[in-house]
Amino acid sequence: MWYNATSRSLIWDAGLVDDSPEEMNRRWWDERAGIHATSALYDLPSFRAGRSTLLPFELEELGEVADLTLLHLQCHIGLDTLSWSRLGAAVTGLDFSPPAIALARQVAAELDLEAEFVLATVEEAPHVLGRQFDIVYSGRGALCWLPSVQRWAEVVGQLLRPGGRLYLAEFHPLTDAMAGDEPRFEVDYREGSVVTDSSPGDYTDRDLETVNNDTFEWVHPLGSVVTALFQAGLVVEQLVEREETYFQRFPGLVAASPGVWQFPSDRPQIPLSYSLRASKPTR
Ligand SMILES: C[S@@+](CC[C@H](N)C(=O)[O-])C[C@H]1O[C@@H](n2cnc3c(N)ncnc32)[C@H](O)[C@@H]1O
Repeated sequence: MWYNATSRSLIWDAGLVDDSPEEMNRRWWDERAGIHATSALYDLPSFRAGRSTLLPFELEELGEVADLTLLHLQCHIGLDTLSWSRLGAAVTGLDFSPPAIALARQVAAELDLEAEFVLATVEEAPHVLGRQFDIVYSGRGALCWLPSVQRWAEVVGQLLRPGGRLYLAEFHPLTDAMAGDEPRFEVDYREGSVVTDSSPGDYTDRDLETVNNDTFEWVHPLGSVVTALFQAGLVVEQLVEREETYFQRFPGLVAASPGVWQFPSDRPQIPLSYSLRASKPTR
């Protein structure tokens, strides 16, 4: 597989081992699920003891979820999904990584939390789930794994019932374009820019010895996200850019509060994350 810089596209030949970007990313995530189960960042013991992984602004901006159906796209090991379940939502988590879904199911069973976890790609979600939801939730490192934000927005539109809401709490695409360790641009801040990486380790532990290290991520500038949602028939109600992020993405970041990272106040501040709420009109 190779990257054609002129056409800005990935070209690959599927041989015996599927080396499409989706499959290489899946292998990366399959290996990380087990690593995350014992990592300090995901901190399963405190989650089991009742910690919520949701941030205060998410609860405030999405509002009451009790008795609503909530689909979490790209749910990973299910901690955010189960945090919504603890607040009374009827939750479904969906992810394409078998070990992640297996772990999510195991944690739900251990904690006796109501939740359904489905193994599928985002692309397959409307067909596999075959129903609509009051809320679609996603974020914190989800969109960058999908090559087409237009397709993602269409899928969200299909999965929401009329009157339903999308809530997205995502890392800022500026930081996806700043692909290296230092906060400087490494690829174009432009729709479809591809960030390739082959570094061993993980965002929970950079020194870890890992086998599957090739990843492909895509930059989706905020304008692309909002336009794709508009074209999918959704109404964007709120978009907030935040000068904080939720892991130490760049070495220069300092901890502002547990799990929240910012640049020091004597440095220029840039948005590091954003949240967006949109709704599907009733007709
Ligand atoms: C960073 S995690 C999601 C964020 C979540 N808040 C977390 O950290 O627990 C990204 C997830 O996207 C999933 N993923 C990547 N590409 C996908 C696709 N095409 N369809 C479904 N899931 C995908 C990965 O398996 C991974 O679990």
